[in-house]
Amino acid sequence: EMSEEKKIAYVFKVVVIGDSAVGKTQLLSRFAKNEFCLDSKSTIGVEFQTRTVTISSKLIKAQIWDTAGQERYRAVTSAYYRGALGAMLVYDVTKRQSFDHVARWVDELRAHADASIVIMLIGNKADLLHSREVPTEDAVEFAETQNLFFFETSALTGDNVEPAFLKLLHQIH
Ligand code: GTP
Repeated sequence: EMSEEKKIAYVFKVVVIGDSAVGKTQLLSRFAKNEFCLDSKSTIGVEFQTRTVTISSKLIKAQIWDTAGQERYRAVTSAYYRGALGAMLVYDVTKRQSFDHVARWVDELRAHADASIVIMLIGNKADLLHSREVPTEDAVEFAETQNLFFFETSALTGDNVEPAFLKLLHQIH
């Protein structure tokens, strides 16, 4: 049998960005390994994980980059965004501030990433029903004005994680 590597049609680089502790690393682990960790440590530096998916009968390797949301750990260089075809811009539905900062993250993308980058806005931790601070409608409205795709997800339950990543990869394709 031929190895998977030989049949890969494209490698798509995707970056995951957003404030610290919104769940970027856990979303990525859920998508790449179907794993979740409740006491996840803050990311230091840059890491990436990959998962190969079939899109329109082609094998696509998604190479998904994760970096720290904390300003003090971030050396945002053009290198992080270089070659990125997609971005997952994550906020926490239970932290209003993380949503208020989304506009700044969009500015950063527009400044450093390719103009054609596909952006998916993600409202994560949707499982925390009783501590929600960001109504879905606020995010829908923002996404429409900024031309972003939008999903609410839970890395904990896995809800909508797969559809969100697959939608982004489809749009890149
Ligand atoms: P930085 O690396 O500091 O930028 O953080 P991050 O955005 O990568 O956040 P991380 O994935 O480390 O998650 C932060 C905390 O939120 C951890 O305690 C996770 O277990 C928790 N968490 C992440 N996703 C979810 C979710 O969907 N639901 C709930 N309830 N908790 C979550």
